[in-house]
Amino acid sequence: MCGIVGYVGQQEAVGVVVEGLRRLEYRGYDSAGVALASAGGLHVAKRAGKLANLDKVLAEQPPAPTTTGIGHTRWATHGAPNDVNAHPHTDCHGRIAVIHNGIIENFAELRDTLERAGHEMDSETDTEVVAHLLEEVLPACDDDLGEALRTVCRLLRGAFTLVVVDAQDPDTVVAARRSSPLVVGRGDGENFVASDVSAFIAHTRDAVELGQDQVVVVTRDHVVITDFHGQPAEGTPYQVDWDASAAEKGGYDWFMLKEIDEQPQAVADTLLGRLSPNGTLQLDEMRLSDDDLRDVNKVIIVSCGTSFYSGLVAKYAIEHWTRLPCEVELASEFRYRDPVLDRSTLVVAITQSGETMDTLMATRYARAQRAKVLAICNTNGSTIPRESDAVIYTHAGPEVAVASTKCFLAQIVACYLLGLYLAQVRGTKYGDEIATILDQLHGIPAAVQIMLDGAEQVRALARELVGATSVLFLGRHVGYPVALEGALKLKELAYLHAEGFAAGELKHGPIALVDEGVPVFVVAPPRAREVLHDKVVSNIQEVRARGARTIVLAEDGDESVVPYADELIWLPRVPTLLQPLVATVPLQLFACELAAALGHDVDQPRNLAKSVTVE
Ligand code: G6P
Repeated sequence: MCGIVGYVGQQEAVGVVVEGLRRLEYRGYDSAGVALASAGGLHVAKRAGKLANLDKVLAEQPPAPTTTGIGHTRWATHGAPNDVNAHPHTDCHGRIAVIHNGIIENFAELRDTLERAGHEMDSETDTEVVAHLLEEVLPACDDDLGEALRTVCRLLRGAFTLVVVDAQDPDTVVAARRSSPLVVGRGDGENFVASDVSAFIAHTRDAVELGQDQVVVVTRDHVVITDFHGQPAEGTPYQVDWDASAAEKGGYDWFMLKEIDEQPQAVADTLLGRLSPNGTLQLDEMRLSDDDLRDVNKVIIVSCGTSFYSGLVAKYAIEHWTRLPCEVELASEFRYRDPVLDRSTLVVAITQSGETMDTLMATRYARAQRAKVLAICNTNGSTIPRESDAVIYTHAGPEVAVASTKCFLAQIVACYLLGLYLAQVRGTKYGDEIATILDQLHGIPAAVQIMLDGAEQVRALARELVGATSVLFLGRHVGYPVALEGALKLKELAYLHAEGFAAGELKHGPIALVDEGVPVFVVAPPRAREVLHDKVVSNIQEVRARGARTIVLAEDGDESVVPYADELIWLPRVPTLLQPLVATVPLQLFACELAAALGHDVDQPRNLAKSVTVE
């Protein structure tokens, strides 16, 4: 999830573009860059790190005045966050500059073909191929940049917003989108393109959202939209009535709400680019050979907070698919218990930030014991992936709210990819079985969207329960970590007493907490897991008989829970192992709404930090 801005108009482009980037910096801050087009050619400046580093370069080497430019602030997916991988990327002759948000799934094949044809690439990014492809096709398109971009888009697989400029046509910016955001801002004698309106609302509030698979050619006075085949097309025009700070949050009251709503995209993006041309799974940075992985006889997951709970979910899938024992350990406890580790142990560190000190220390300890370490991380180039033998990145984009939401879902997906990869390498699952599970995972964004569309039911419930002093959460199997995560969200946001329990443990103690009117959330497993399901239905009856107010999350159409539920939250039908990806969503919404109703700062709860870099 990167920030993108493009401008053609009458003002000094560098100022407009850099100011736009400042507004978009919340979307990514690994590096930033601009390309300014003028009759004199392209001026490209880019730097790793925050925007201030780019400001410095532009102050030291000011570009020639011009009124056309593009800019990018990066959240790295392919390639480390350094100067070379920073956008824009150019073709062999420095004529074309490209910025990109998204993931081009077939970039490796395209890069290979281009390199064979003599193109030289500087960076490790998937983006750079686009600049070289444009260079290839421009002559056949009569140097028409719009036609060239349409031609290139037809060659690309994956998700992308692309914005390009051509030194030989310096009064035009061309942009394209597929499954990544792109909005046009229409001004008076000036036009803008951007990832979101916050980049240009200081200049215009007249916006047009581009549709799927559309290309827009923007000049000072014209905005022309077509599909990828050149047929005229229309975007969706609207007037922006947010202020600048609301615009950063996409009009939401809280970053957390925005991030909850971004979950379908986070899941979809984390699944992108995982299949090799021959249909087998491939992962991001795998410095472990297949033989190394065949050698593994135990998996230990280490992590903290919400990342710990994603590990608890993953354990069920990893053991089921690989038949390897999988332990899940709090990173802060791990190295103090003298864990049994050797070369055949695969330690998986799950971390959104890649900087959590407890997790870092656990991975260092594991490496010192010669275990293999694989990081599942959302932050490219951060310390834990750098110090690991392999990495799977979650492509959730920056998470600003302290309480983790979209990264939790993306972490589960990444763990599942790891489980399937191990099963592929070790031969514990057939290729068609893996393909079936991948298909089911690809159905999850739509299932999560169904949960989001039903948000108002949960939010109303939260407002109703605003006086509750204690809330309990119950689940079995993968529903158990969902219960733990539901309780954690409520603790961290609403400062409320909340506990998650394994439903089967209820009778061994926690049931004593149940009193008249105590809200108890219960995650009911899909009916396909008959034994599990029936046990949970009994648990619902047990708490209800003791006066609990039962809020049951159950598979759509599961009539067996209806008589025992004071409130029913229907979940789309998904396989048991995937149910946490949908069942967590209402619990996040519930905590967020309750905290907001109590007047708390949802994005920055008291006493908490997004990244905890002390032990
Ligand atoms: C902090 C955050 C949590 C997060 C945990 C682990 O406690 O408040 O939201 O889950 O750290 O962070 P990590 O970056 O390692 O996933």
